[in-house]
Amino acid sequence: MFLSVLTASLAVIGCLVTQTTCTEDRDLLIVTVATNETDGFKRFIRSLNINGLQVKVLGLGLAWEGGDVKNVAGGGHKVNLLKEELRKYKDDAKKIIMFSDSYDVIFTGGKDAIFERFDKLNAQVVFAAEDYCWPNKNLASQYPRVPFGYKYLNSGGFIGYAPDVYKIVTAHEIKNEDDDQLYYTEIFLDEKLRKLYGMKLDTQAKIFQNLNGQYGDVSLKFDEDDTVIVNTVYQSSPVVIHGNGPSKILLNSLGNYLAKSWVYGHDCLACKENTKDLKDLERSEYPVVLVAVFVEKPMPFLEEMLEKVANLDYPKDRIDLFVHNQEKLHVQLVDEWMSRQKSAGYRSTKFISEADNIKEWHARNLAVEHCLKKDCDAYFSVDGDIHLDNPETLTHLLSQNRPILGAVMVRAGQAWSTFWGALNEDGFYARSIDYMDIVNNNRRGIWNVPYLTGVYVIQRSVLVSPETRPNYIYKLLDADMAMAANMREKGIFMYVSNLEDYGHLVEPNYFPTKYLHNDMWQMKANKEDWESRYISPLYWNALDLTSLNEMPCPDVYWFPIFTPRFCKELVELANDNGGWSDGSNNDPRLAGGYENVPTVDIHMNQMEFEQEWLWILRHYVKPLAEKVYLGYDSAARSIMNFIVRYRPKEQSLLRPHHDSSTYTLNVGLNRPHIDYEGGGARFIRYNCSVVNTRVGWGLLHPGRLTHYHEGLRTTRGTRYIMVSFIDP
Ligand SMILES: *[C@@H]1O[C@H](CO)[C@@H](O)[C@H](O)[C@H]1NC(C)=O
Ligand SMILES: *[C@@H]1O[C@H](CO)[C@@H](O)[C@H](O)[C@H]1NC(C)=O
Repeated sequence: MFLSVLTASLAVIGCLVTQTTCTEDRDLLIVTVATNETDGFKRFIRSLNINGLQVKVLGLGLAWEGGDVKNVAGGGHKVNLLKEELRKYKDDAKKIIMFSDSYDVIFTGGKDAIFERFDKLNAQVVFAAEDYCWPNKNLASQYPRVPFGYKYLNSGGFIGYAPDVYKIVTAHEIKNEDDDQLYYTEIFLDEKLRKLYGMKLDTQAKIFQNLNGQYGDVSLKFDEDDTVIVNTVYQSSPVVIHGNGPSKILLNSLGNYLAKSWVYGHDCLACKENTKDLKDLERSEYPVVLVAVFVEKPMPFLEEMLEKVANLDYPKDRIDLFVHNQEKLHVQLVDEWMSRQKSAGYRSTKFISEADNIKEWHARNLAVEHCLKKDCDAYFSVDGDIHLDNPETLTHLLSQNRPILGAVMVRAGQAWSTFWGALNEDGFYARSIDYMDIVNNNRRGIWNVPYLTGVYVIQRSVLVSPETRPNYIYKLLDADMAMAANMREKGIFMYVSNLEDYGHLVEPNYFPTKYLHNDMWQMKANKEDWESRYISPLYWNALDLTSLNEMPCPDVYWFPIFTPRFCKELVELANDNGGWSDGSNNDPRLAGGYENVPTVDIHMNQMEFEQEWLWILRHYVKPLAEKVYLGYDSAARSIMNFIVRYRPKEQSLLRPHHDSSTYTLNVGLNRPHIDYEGGGARFIRYNCSVVNTRVGWGLLHPGRLTHYHEGLRTTRGTRYIMVSFIDP
């Protein structure tokens, strides 16, 4: 208690105390050294401006002589630039100098907050502190004891009175390529000098928070009008946040919120900055975009994926289309789509087919080169698993005007998405604290991320310079990881947006490749895509408990279930399989080898579609049965699931019989009066027939006792139906 009163009274030393108010007569000069205006530098400047601060930048445009500070010691160049600059203020005791690195620093407070914290520390000069003794570990033992706090000096940030700071930077000679942190450390460890210059370390992160190794000490605090960092160990709210060493990615992640970037209740404020809304332009003035499509492996629902690319709401004469297909399985589909695109009015089209035998890494680099060759304004990359459900995706991404901006898309029901929020030590996926909130759209915004994939826009400004141009080769990494690793190394920020819903990812990992229509097998792995292709849009209404049911005969109900496409593909799969029975009573496929009422048919298990079909029964048919046969709880089990074909000269009808089922499903698979004449089911007890059966519609009728029935004669063509004896 006594101590804190003491610090509070010392806090006013720096300003003139009139009766009740304190008028600040000191001046704050923030200084940084930066040779390049990197994305990190721009973020630094923005954070200062948000907090009403200015900065003097030293070294812009100069060649950096401080060595590769990321990997080895260096940075003496910074000290030498400071020496020169601070000479002007060497006698100005009212001037407070604050030095800060810039590429990896964000300010979260203004002058008042900085002075308040500085004064409480009761020092002439305060250096940032961290838990690592760097670059010379052997010096650790010479440090003063710190019972509770960060022990070691970090030179990325310091603050002090100009005359003292000047004395420190001019205390010794230092070569540009020498280490600045070592320079300051040696002065600090000299007890005489430390006292002489009034030096202290900010051991409890009152002003400076270094993030390296201190991930667990900090958390975001969502205030009403800003989002700040609190250090929960030392109960401080630091104002200078430094992503030193490998913590740059954490800083990028925190930076998505800090300095009024994302504020609860206001959401993403930074998203409104520097935008360039395409809606303000004539469509003929839209940026020229190279749209590059990559099909690199077997991919479910590729047909829809390609259609969504073709349906982008963007003037085709402002698009150069580039397509790379490396997958044999998709040659026909992609070739056909591509030949339609050639006459669709694009500015140009380029196709690299599987036969060209160009690997993904090279194809992607080629696409970027092609973009430049076509003088593009932007590059839009889309992979085969990306479904652009929102046709305005490209327009939105371009309007946000970020150098690299991807769209957040997610695999349905999974946490798998088009970005990573964090990296582990090996450079692979790690989950950031906000990852699920972003993936689930609980937080919407634009997010600085260490890795993105699948779908993104890259602006011309990044493409033109060989220094920043995306390169999809990096060691042996996959192409997308290579691109991200290269960008991270160059300090180029990558963002993803979930400001809007842009689309979804398909799940490619359970995709069979051996069937004629592989997508048919995707009802589990890609349920929504499967349903939109194969389940009738009318089904969902029929399912509705309040909707009326069609009952063509007593207790016989008729429902739309499948799309015509489902029926067509099922028949094609059956014919592709070709294992039709001969329609005799001898049936080796059955347990007893004998079929009482034989048909010419093919069983679902012959087609390796039995488990899938049973899944369909459970998920789509069972609810219909339970709707119309009130109080019946169907297990939707079935051991007889088969396609029957009726032909005038083969088997054309089926004599009256009962089914060994509680209820039977009978789906018409092709078109009466077009594909065949005749056919239908007649329920003898009621003398009632269902004819002109509709494609994709299923008849449900009780199997035994009441619904003795026959198959009516097919008089022309071939009639196909799908039959299941449910709950036998
Ligand atoms: C930084 O600036 C130097 C000197 O102007 C230049 O050679 C270098 O390419 C720049 N680096 C980046 C990443 O822009
Ligand atoms: C059965 O229905 C048909 C056509 O509706 C009709 O011609 C026939 O007379 C009916 N048979 C009996 C036994 O009612």
